[in-house]
Amino acid sequence: MADVEALKKKAGIEACQFVKSGMKVGLGTGSTVKHTVIELGRRMAEEGLEIVGVPTSLATEKLAIEVGIPLVELSEIDGLDIVIDGADEYDPDFQLIKGGGAALLREKIVAQESSSMVVVADDRKRVDTLGAFPLPIEVTPFSHEATVRALSRLLDCRVNIRMAGDGPVVTDNGNMIADAHTGPKITDPNSLETQILQIAGVVQVGLFNNMCDAVVLAGSDGVQTVLNPKGRLTS
Ligand code: A5P
Repeated sequence: MADVEALKKKAGIEACQFVKSGMKVGLGTGSTVKHTVIELGRRMAEEGLEIVGVPTSLATEKLAIEVGIPLVELSEIDGLDIVIDGADEYDPDFQLIKGGGAALLREKIVAQESSSMVVVADDRKRVDTLGAFPLPIEVTPFSHEATVRALSRLLDCRVNIRMAGDGPVVTDNGNMIADAHTGPKITDPNSLETQILQIAGVVQVGLFNNMCDAVVLAGSDGVQTVLNPKGRLTS
């Protein structure tokens, strides 16, 4: 476990290479990208880096304030230069599953507003086919049982409302998370995203397609940055 933590920290810090003074930066959510946020705060305090950030969750907002990153609302600015975020899985086409931390809706809004997206991960997140990690889907509390049934029919798998103790997990947006246990079978994430979003009670799905430009990947042999050949980043 300590090793995994060390890998996450390495990846999180290494990703800061993509951030330059003057940038507007989307700040992701999770145990890997938290190291990015802390390092960006350190560079601002000690090295004169000047950025503004948009957090993807209340937890990240709190951390960013603690480490001294000035925050802005998406409505105040015309897009972001970059978002750095974690992922639960990524496949050879750089398609992602996200939402293990229940922050997928704000993460996706911020990613869509960003000119580039860098994912920070340890090498357990790299898969051949998406879906071993249960696919997180944000759903409305209203009639969530019906939404879960519709998802289960569509995906032909077990779908559970994510729980925290006795009650459901409540997202920063007041919604619930349905986790779909598809198994590693998501070969066409573009089509699946479209189909899932057609169900009325679905707010958003944790498939992040055609968004990721690079993965900063930490493994036992070190940290490597893997660029998406179809992506928007060149180095
Ligand atoms: C948050 O909802 C997620 O999308 C996270 O970014 C993802 O779960 C990765 O988190 P870790 O870095 O903690 O594994």
